[in-house]
Amino acid sequence: MVKRVVASAPGKIILFGEHAVVYGEPAVAVAIDRRARVIVEERGDFEVRISAPDLSLEAGFDLERGFSEDSFSFFEIPQRLKNVVRAVEVSLNACNLKRGLNIEINSDIPPSAGLGSSASVAVATVAAVGKCLTGDSWESEKVSKLAFEAEKIVHGTPSGIDNTISAYGGGIIFQQGKIERLDIGAQVSIIIGDTKVERSTKKLVSHVRSICEKYPSIGLPIIRLIGSLTLEGIESLKMGDFEGLGELMDINQGLLDAVGVSHLSLSKMIFAAREAGAYGAKLSGAGGGGCMIALTSPENAKNVLEAIEMSGGRAVPAAFSMRGVTVESEE
Ligand code: MEV
Repeated sequence: MVKRVVASAPGKIILFGEHAVVYGEPAVAVAIDRRARVIVEERGDFEVRISAPDLSLEAGFDLERGFSEDSFSFFEIPQRLKNVVRAVEVSLNACNLKRGLNIEINSDIPPSAGLGSSASVAVATVAAVGKCLTGDSWESEKVSKLAFEAEKIVHGTPSGIDNTISAYGGGIIFQQGKIERLDIGAQVSIIIGDTKVERSTKKLVSHVRSICEKYPSIGLPIIRLIGSLTLEGIESLKMGDFEGLGELMDINQGLLDAVGVSHLSLSKMIFAAREAGAYGAKLSGAGGGGCMIALTSPENAKNVLEAIEMSGGRAVPAAFSMRGVTVESEE
């Protein structure tokens, strides 16, 4: 029986369709080469100890006391580790086992930045617990489905796109839980600009919902328009029409701004990237701070990167990753 397992899962960027995807519209996501790594060890008792040394967070609870959200032990868990607790719970249930575990989380995905850090942690946790307790490497589909339960703790009404792209890797078109693989060519560069402004996906998703409820004849058509432009974007992507892709990213940004999920820090970086010659630029993820992305020719990537830095962001070239959830080692 496997006793110690390391599993990892990637973060993501969304090229088109965030927020609208929550309403059943299609979205396009791509896995990036930043990952969360989770180490799981069997303890031999009924305690679960979770630590995230990067964030100086620790939590512990007794399996005998149960997982109920109303239970005292759950409220002792720091907010940022609640999704891990849920990921452990659903994984133990899927194994039909009650076993104490040590869980250590490390990640090079900035948290609360729109790069899917919480989903990657949940996906890697599920895969590592499953492998540790059953000896099996669970399919991406199963890992994603279980991690989705953990995402609900963090995001309220998530679409499931973050856990799905993290489990599968590569590029996907995601709509209502269904995925289609998408090949993202290497002839184009994407620069990620991090505003370093942390925000809550849950709050931003509920802000969009309040706009749609208050102004249904305005909010909902904007959501549908984002869906239509995502379909156009997929065509441009398939044809390698980067000018068209950039234009559609700019329109997508305008529509996201219209439903109130942009931020001054994002706008500054987005306009700077466009002025530096990017094909297009938009926020990626929930917005409200977090990250923006700029699409550029490889020759112009340095200019765009510098422009984003000059406007106050931390810029990094995004390297796509085909690798989804992976069991890295087992002892
Ligand atoms: C978050 O990465 C993307 C959102 O559309 C929320 C979701 O799909 O669950 C804002």
